[in-house]
Amino acid sequence: MPGDTKSAVLASRQHSDSGVEVRSPVVEDGAALWRIVVESSVLDANSPYAYLLWCRDFARSSVVATVNGEPAGFVTGYVRPDQPDTVMVWQVAVDSEHRGHGLAGRMLDHLVDGLAAESVAWLEATVTPDNQASTRLFSSFAQARGADLVQEPIFPAGLFPEEHEPEVLFRIGPLV
Ligand SMILES: CC(C)(COP(=O)(O)OP(=O)(O)OC[C@H]1O[C@@H](n2cnc3c(N)ncnc32)[C@H](O)[C@@H]1OP(=O)(O)O)[C@@H](O)C(=O)NCCC(=O)NCCS
Repeated sequence: MPGDTKSAVLASRQHSDSGVEVRSPVVEDGAALWRIVVESSVLDANSPYAYLLWCRDFARSSVVATVNGEPAGFVTGYVRPDQPDTVMVWQVAVDSEHRGHGLAGRMLDHLVDGLAAESVAWLEATVTPDNQASTRLFSSFAQARGADLVQEPIFPAGLFPEEHEPEVLFRIGPLV
């Protein structure tokens, strides 16, 4: 994407910036990440321990957004060990009261911009077919970056030990 177009996209996402900070997580954010997931009622909640560990060991490939100093959203991700040009977004969530203001998009921008120096040029995420907000988030992100988005089945419902929607892999890139 040309620099001026990208700047315009990023600027348009900063419409309600007062009190918003987007940064890497620290372990003190772990409990808030767990709370945001539990309150989402959509995402699979992992143990509180998992979020603390993630904030310690995968902070570089994760993001937290705070509003007036309080965590309001996050992205947890990792650079795929066997495919180091790809960041896998594990979970993304924004507190319900802060949705619809571009926070998730800004966190994805922060994530890939921070990893660009490490030659990460692809973003992957899995989405359940009924999750329109998530589908729109990643489609909009790909479009804003001038990147392709390819969808393919990854985890059919039958792989899960309990009732679960199938997961579809979204692969977005190349990111420049
Ligand atoms: C998905 C989620 C993270 C989006 O957060 P958000 O901060 O509201 O998203 P943004 O404001 O950055 O919006 C990004 C894009 O998605 C669109 N969008 C956001 N919520 C939407 C909704 N409920 N329905 C349709 N589109 C939606 C926005 O219009 C925007 O598209 P645009 O750039 O074309 O206008 C948030 O809805 C959420 O936490 N949901 C529950 C958890 C979840 O489902 N996580 C994803 C699992 S992979």
